[in-house]
Amino acid sequence: MHHKTRYFLTATLAGLLLLAAPCSPAADGARLAKEKCERCHGPQGNSSEPEVPIIAGIPRDYFLDTMKKFRSGERPAERFETKGHRPTDMNEIAKALTREQIRALADYYAAQTFRPARQAVDPALAKKGARVYRKRCRRCHEDNGRSSEGDAGRLAGQWLPYLSAQLDKFLSGRRKPTRKMARQLKKLSADERKAVLHFFASQVD
Ligand code: HEC
Ligand code: HEC
Repeated sequence: MHHKTRYFLTATLAGLLLLAAPCSPAADGARLAKEKCERCHGPQGNSSEPEVPIIAGIPRDYFLDTMKKFRSGERPAERFETKGHRPTDMNEIAKALTREQIRALADYYAAQTFRPARQAVDPALAKKGARVYRKRCRRCHEDNGRSSEGDAGRLAGQWLPYLSAQLDKFLSGRRKPTRKMARQLKKLSADERKAVLHFFASQVD
């Protein structure tokens, strides 16, 4: 082979390898999400499992804080099983990730588009729940539960069974709510709790 041609080929090959190398954190987050999260949380974090929260668009700070709580066990998580894998939970999953991986996943999921869960809603309950929401939840979970200024997950369009399990945990103390939210939650009757969740589930746009 001509000397110049060989040099050219080597240089081209090196260039291609550089292009293929996963060097940006965004690319890394997408790959990690596909490998480690998608089988439960769905594509881009839009879960179709009612017990698994939708995490597409999750605020970065809330994600980082939540992963820290899963790692330390401060927020105990339920086990979940998918076909072909042994059952596991978010405490185990979070512990097995490095800080860099968690940051890459935070950036990745914050950039995805939240797609509201398709689920049955009782319109009469949702209407009653709107009143509960305005009185007791709106102050922190603004815009009908769409926004939370970065320190809570999105409630509007989230899976009702997931949210219901979280309210039970807040009330039993298994998941620690902030003092101010605990005060509001304790004022709700079981019917009002159900109603406010139907209100959040009815927010599908
Ligand atoms: C085996 C299924 C499974 C896998 C795999 C999984 N998760 Fe989860 N995830 C769950 C379940 C179930 C919950 C609800 C846990 C609970 O509170 O009991 C959850 C909750 C979460 C939450 C809390 C959301 C909120 O609104 O508070 C975050 C964040 C999260 N997962 C991120 C991830 C990331 C990132 C990965 C991949 C590294 C991942 N999960 C992999 C099942 C899974
Ligand atoms: C004083 C502010 C405040 C009020 C009032 C409040 N919340 Fe919250 N809520 C929060 C914060 C902060 C979090 C995140 C807690 C955490 O990081 O563990 C949260 C989390 C939640 C979650 C869990 C979300 C998830 O993705 O896992 C649910 C469900 C919830 N709130 C429901 C309610 C309901 C229903 C009301 C009204 C009855 C309410 N909250 C009132 C601040 C508030």
